[in-house]
Amino acid sequence: MFNGENEPLAAQTNPFLQRYTPPTIDGNFTGKHIITVDQFERKDLQILFDAATSIRKRIRQSDRGLTEVCDGKVMASLFFEASTRTDMSFQAAMRRLGGEVIAASNGVQFSSVYKGENLADTVRAAGCYADVIVLRHPQLGSSYEAAYYIDKLNQRIKNPSVIISGGDGIGEHPTQALLDMYTIYDQKKGFDGLTITMVGDLRNGRTVHSLAKLTALYEPHGMRLCFVSPQSLKMPSSTITLLTSKGITVFETSDLLEVLGQSDVIYWTRVQEERFENPTDYAAIKDDFIMTPSVMAHARPDAILMHPLPRKNEMGTRDDHDILDEDPRAVYFEQMENGMFIRMALLAKVLRGVYV
Ligand code: NCD
Repeated sequence: MFNGENEPLAAQTNPFLQRYTPPTIDGNFTGKHIITVDQFERKDLQILFDAATSIRKRIRQSDRGLTEVCDGKVMASLFFEASTRTDMSFQAAMRRLGGEVIAASNGVQFSSVYKGENLADTVRAAGCYADVIVLRHPQLGSSYEAAYYIDKLNQRIKNPSVIISGGDGIGEHPTQALLDMYTIYDQKKGFDGLTITMVGDLRNGRTVHSLAKLTALYEPHGMRLCFVSPQSLKMPSSTITLLTSKGITVFETSDLLEVLGQSDVIYWTRVQEERFENPTDYAAIKDDFIMTPSVMAHARPDAILMHPLPRKNEMGTRDDHDILDEDPRAVYFEQMENGMFIRMALLAKVLRGVYV
């Protein structure tokens, strides 16, 4: 699956990664597909952070005015891979903004996908009925392909739609990275001088690919990135090259204790079992990094522990979960909740262009 440089070979073979170039946001989200974090600049993140903070406050005050924001709009939920948080937070976000949500009644596996329909036709069907399509698909480049065909459809029909990626194979997960950045911003009050340590499956984990690239927007402010993984699951070399070219200090190691005590943000990840062709390769490294209270004892008192979730072996045993969860440094539930606020902000901006 991978060449010697840790690069996904599929990246070189999916033509849509070259055929479709996502638009830059440049302060204006309206009607734009959200496919990669490369579309964003620092000012775009600030717009979303401010909107998410305002939305969070208004939700906590049970502000009914928010349901006017996407009144009359429809979101299609198209998940070709398992999801709890991304799927439900997008659905909740749309409903709390007053919009409606549609999906194939028995899941996408019992749509015409079951009869062998291809991705392009499935997304174009959703595009005819919805204003926004949230797509998660196992194939790298699938969101580029979807955006390409939706653009063609939009030239033909009266109600245009947009694609928002909810996870593009082993490539990117842009909205997760937005909520992760928002959580760091919210918890740490900015990004200056932070040491951010990402741990686990950095090769197959799409959340860390997107998050690493977004942090690069905050140079030059002395941010440092540490990547901790087994040798076989290192961050793709193209991402390392990009980060260093932007002036970010990058440190790679397989020894967590080398960096744990200096980290302001510890971003823990699951080994992506479903991306392994050979189960013995997975078994060989699945327990390399397990976060437990005794590991966390090496972290700084003001560090934060994040995880995109779901968690499996990499976060202690079932009993240990609870002990870790009580540690005030564990912020993954806040992170999970922020997912809904950031997605509300994004839907409002993309569908209506409004500042809430
Ligand atoms: C992640 C994903 O799907 O990439 N989950 C999520 O969206 N929060 C992380 C994972 O599955 O490990």
